[in-house]
Amino acid sequence: MGGTGIRIEGLRKRYGSGDTAVDALKGVDMHVAPGEVVGLIGPSGSGKSTLLKCLGAVIDPTAGRMTLGDEVIYDDGWRVRDLRALRRDKIGFVFQAPYLIPFLDVTDNVALLPMLAGVPNAEARDRARELLAALDVGHRARAQPSQLSGGEQQRVAIARGLVNRPPVILADEPTAPLDSERAMAVVHILNEMARRYETAIIVVTHDEKIIPTFKRIYQIRDGVTHEQVAKSSPVAAVALAQHAPSNGVLPGSVSGSPR
Ligand SMILES: Nc1ncnc2c1ncn2[C@@H]1O[C@H](COP(=O)(O)OP(=O)(O)OP(=O)(O)O)[C@@H](O)[C@H]1O
Ligand SMILES: [Mg+2]
Repeated sequence: MGGTGIRIEGLRKRYGSGDTAVDALKGVDMHVAPGEVVGLIGPSGSGKSTLLKCLGAVIDPTAGRMTLGDEVIYDDGWRVRDLRALRRDKIGFVFQAPYLIPFLDVTDNVALLPMLAGVPNAEARDRARELLAALDVGHRARAQPSQLSGGEQQRVAIARGLVNRPPVILADEPTAPLDSERAMAVVHILNEMARRYETAIIVVTHDEKIIPTFKRIYQIRDGVTHEQVAKSSPVAAVALAQHAPSNGVLPGSVSGSPR
């Protein structure tokens, strides 16, 4: 899709009012280019989840401006009208908890979103199976979510966040429940998604294993962001290459063209 990726300017969020008001974001500036994966770190309570929720149109900011792709989605109290279309077409969410639908099997948990967006069922399931294979959970494609381990469920949830090839992916601690090999495989896939589809990706994380893989990191402290350009890390680059999915399959390599 190109465009501007993600641009946040002077973003503020106040929870509540009067004596009990909490200023969670106090003027955040941030830019993630199309094709870029950026880390977002900061101590507990510093505003990371608040920032992702504002960007994901889950809560309303108090002031500032946010642009996704070519579209201004929020500007000082004004907000795009069709939030459902915004979330469905523009944003992939990956949360710390998987939130899978218990009565759908693994494939249909992932295929549901593209089906809802009008992709034919067979193609949606093909896309789902490719991603599940790339995330090393393809052998569980017919299982019910309750039959999977926590890490497997999380990888299914990651597939679901990526399957619509959204221009923006917001990931809140996506690797928290995963071992280091699986965590690196997830980071590898996020980087491949970014490169292949020009996706702009923000990864909130405390995970020391994956922090060295980011070329750029924003740190939030007291509701304000500070940008850090990572020191070059050959170790991380090698680790990432080593953790490419073993089957070589990457999402979208068969069905459809990059957006
Ligand atoms: N719904 C709410 N109402 C009032 N205050 C809130 C609400 N949600 C968050 N806060 C406050 O806003 C601040 C930022 O919270 P946020 O959840 O964004 O932090 P975080 O950086 O994601 O922390 P963590 O690493 O613990 O997940 C905190 O002081 C928190 O107590
Ligand atoms: Mg949080």
